[in-house]
Amino acid sequence: MGNRADQVIGDVLKRIHEAIVDNDVTYDEYQAVKQWLIDVGEAGEWPLFLDVFVESAVEQQVYRDREGSQGTILGPYHLPDAPVLDAPYELPKRDDEQGDRMHFSGRVVDHEGNPLAGAVLDVWHADAKGLYSGFDPSVPEGILRGKVIADDEGRYEVRSIVPAPYTIPHDGPTGKMIAAADWHPWRPAHIHLIVSADGYEALTTQLYIDSSDYLDDDVASAVKDNLVVHLEPKEGEPEVLHFDYDFALAPARTPAVA
Ligand code: DHB
Ligand code: FE
Repeated sequence: MGNRADQVIGDVLKRIHEAIVDNDVTYDEYQAVKQWLIDVGEAGEWPLFLDVFVESAVEQQVYRDREGSQGTILGPYHLPDAPVLDAPYELPKRDDEQGDRMHFSGRVVDHEGNPLAGAVLDVWHADAKGLYSGFDPSVPEGILRGKVIADDEGRYEVRSIVPAPYTIPHDGPTGKMIAAADWHPWRPAHIHLIVSADGYEALTTQLYIDSSDYLDDDVASAVKDNLVVHLEPKEGEPEVLHFDYDFALAPARTPAVA
């Protein structure tokens, strides 16, 4: 087998060189890009930039043949140590948390529809201003993050508030690039999940709220049609907006025998 680093890095550089020729790039542009790359690093924006502009292509390539539910990008805002919640499975929130109340429920099953008892759903999302706890200092630590465990029939439920669309920070170099290109910095309102069960491939995904702006125009290119959910007043609790969603996990990939 050839040297993979030689192959991939060589190919990336070749394509950059081609773009320079095709677009007749100037020395001023080269110097501006070099400074911009330095600025992205100094601002700590590489996780942000890569997850917005590159991760979706990796996700689609790696999981192109996956059985079961669709996944999408992880993004930069997952924190692994969220607490396991008890009934009524409500994500921690502020006393005066803004936003409509939300409830969602469904089942976690395997690729053949058998329930996965004890499956773990790690859930996190932005607040009603589109901000994430643990990253934006104005949001208290631990807010709007938690894990729930599916019951013996694979059933789960989660309570929280409806998140708002998210704008990637636009005061730094990533925002400067977006403005220079005349793009917009928005992602549609979404809920992040990692659904896992022993013996199955963990599913990293997001659910998108169908009334949100930017569904057709996500800056991170991570929306897939069957990840869009429709919220309706919950039976018996009309002030709470509800949707159902089932997750089907694929068996863990067994590593190839060397
Ligand atoms: C980014 C933010 C998100 O909330 C997300 O889901 C994906 C990417 C980002 O800013 O990079
Ligand atoms: Fe997000």
